[in-house]
Amino acid sequence: MEIYNFSAGPARLPKEVMKIAQAEFCNFQESGSGILELSHRGKFFSPVIERAEANIRELMGISDDYAVCFVQGGASMQFAMIPMNLLNGGTADFIDTGVWSNKAAKEAKLFGTANIAASSRESKYDHIPAASEWKLTPNASYMYITSNNTVAGSEYIPLPKAPAGVPLVADMSSDIMSRVVNVNDFGLIFAGAQKNLGPSGVALVIIRKDLLERTGENVPTMLKYSTYTENGSMFNTPPTFAIYMLALVTDYFKQQGGIAAIEKVNIAKAEKLYGYLDSTDFYKTPVAKENRSRMNVVFRTPSDELDAKFVKDALPHGLTDLKGHRLVGGCRASIYNAMPMAGIDALIEYMKEFERLNG
Ligand SMILES: Cc1ncc(COP(=O)(O)O)c(C=O)c1O
Repeated sequence: MEIYNFSAGPARLPKEVMKIAQAEFCNFQESGSGILELSHRGKFFSPVIERAEANIRELMGISDDYAVCFVQGGASMQFAMIPMNLLNGGTADFIDTGVWSNKAAKEAKLFGTANIAASSRESKYDHIPAASEWKLTPNASYMYITSNNTVAGSEYIPLPKAPAGVPLVADMSSDIMSRVVNVNDFGLIFAGAQKNLGPSGVALVIIRKDLLERTGENVPTMLKYSTYTENGSMFNTPPTFAIYMLALVTDYFKQQGGIAAIEKVNIAKAEKLYGYLDSTDFYKTPVAKENRSRMNVVFRTPSDELDAKFVKDALPHGLTDLKGHRLVGGCRASIYNAMPMAGIDALIEYMKEFERLNG
């Protein structure tokens, strides 16, 4: 039986990619060693990191005005690195749409003023506040958004723009490369890799080069973006295996026809699942219809007990990791790029049966 893992992250990766990694694990390109065992400065790894960056640039249409780097410490490290490098005692505007933007604002307060320009916290992050309600600071150092809210299950569709002259900073951890993005609208984009791109621990950072000049002298070496951009992300030993997996995953995205083709499939997957959710009163999704995430579909059965039973009874059907985030409870199906339509079909079949038996 095929197992469909709906984990929010680390999450399912394309099976084809996992098989390549398995085949090469002990002997990478006839080197006699696995990629885990090879020097990051040697002739085998250099083309891998170059390919990862070239793939990302091609897939996302990134111009030479931007640097692409790989930083350890996950997405959470970026919550601190961004204000450390870009804030310098100034004010940044945060659109607070979930736990992750809230955590990012908390870190920013250590380095300047974090203005919560809008928040949906009081209604349990069930929507994204409309841009007309945002109370933005004139000439803010930057404006910060979480493009997809992994826990709450909401997503900016379309993505917003920042006022002219204000860099837009986006945490795209849970929807990076799931849809076409105009990188030129952003000052900085970052994403923890463990949802759509590869293993946990590494963050992809795309930064407009002029912003590199903002960093003060007192920022420690490993926390300065310029350390990464000036050294090809190899000032110290980079997370080689994670970067290798990122190269394989992005090779695969190219073979799928690129991000526009992948986005089409993601829209179809999400429409099918929400379409089913809307067709029954048994399951309810708390998120405002216009803000529903295409990546993390959050829903509830009529009771907490049935939510728990739903998650447990799914296992014999090969459907795993359907539990909602520990902060919000309920159920959540994370359907990133690597989840095929067959996984959505299997989930809907199970949901119908569960309703029939428990409704
Ligand atoms: C949107 C978002 N930002 C940040 C994080 C934190 O990522 P990490 O665990 O890599 O620090 C997560 C993790 O799930 C996330 O979903």
